[in-house]
Amino acid sequence: MAITKVGMCGLGQMGSGIAEVVAKAGVTVIGYDVEDQFVQKGLGRINKSLSKAVEKGKLDESTKGEVLGRITGTTNLNDLADCDLIIEAIVENLEPKIELYKKLDGIVKKEAIFASNTSSLSIIEMGATTNRPDQFCGLHFFNPVPVMKLVEVIKTVATSDATFETARQFGEKVGKVVVSCADSPGFVVNRLLVPYLLDAIRALEAGVATKEDIDNGMKLGCGHPMGPLELTDFIGLDTIYYIGEILFAEFKQHHYASPPLLKSMVKAGYLGRKAGRGFYDYSK
Ligand code: CAA
Repeated sequence: MAITKVGMCGLGQMGSGIAEVVAKAGVTVIGYDVEDQFVQKGLGRINKSLSKAVEKGKLDESTKGEVLGRITGTTNLNDLADCDLIIEAIVENLEPKIELYKKLDGIVKKEAIFASNTSSLSIIEMGATTNRPDQFCGLHFFNPVPVMKLVEVIKTVATSDATFETARQFGEKVGKVVVSCADSPGFVVNRLLVPYLLDAIRALEAGVATKEDIDNGMKLGCGHPMGPLELTDFIGLDTIYYIGEILFAEFKQHHYASPPLLKSMVKAGYLGRKAGRGFYDYSK
């Protein structure tokens, strides 16, 4: 099936990044969020990102205008009725996701595909609450979406081959390299990344080294663009804690368990860059 119109549910950091790369690939996008202030914030984020690309000479003004012209915003789910693909990137919590999918199932045309950008929740648990589990898959992008080259395409036990193939081709169309994954917690990347980040926090907690030395160790010793504590601040301490809890609940293995330091920092509101404070201070 040709994907010519995408409904992007949730215009936060991930959703606006996804909407941007989809529109850049020539596909019409309608971005949905629950309140107009969130829609406007998401559209503003896309505009800013495209303007930065123009400043750097990576995009010309007229192309920017064309990309923006392909994106509209709405707070009305009914406006998504004729979309070919719905990508959902709302709050990382099963209940509101299921509630949204049930509504969408009654609104969006029968042949449309639903794809969740969840980083760790079960895709089939969402798909099974709709009348189209065979047209349900995962499309997991990485932050910052315009920069990171990967998308994980997740096939559940119910996803049809045709749906998977359409999603895979779509991932390539928006300029990403596709990794195919089974519907297993954390898929490929977070299954490997999250225990590594949790171990770095455990090393800090145990006094193995300072935060700067832990980060420099991995940046300079292994060529990572960010050290693990910087990266945890970038992703959000609450997000890492939450994904760790999901992985631990599933696998019951120590390396997925959150260290007490992470829990304390989350409780204190030190959530990383977005909060102005995490392992590092971003208040300035
Ligand atoms: N949008 C668009 N472009 C952006 C951007 C954004 N939000 N942030 C950075 N960039 C671009 C910059 O414009 C710059 O482009 P040029 O090279 O063309 O000038 C390029 O990215 C590099 O940026 P900077 O020079 O500002 O800074 P940097 O070199 O430190 O790179 C970074 C920033 C790309 C974020 C880099 O540090 C990096 O790759 N970090 C690791 C990010 C990562 O691991 N992400 C995955 C997180 S896990 C996840 O998302 C999944 C999950 O489920 C938790």
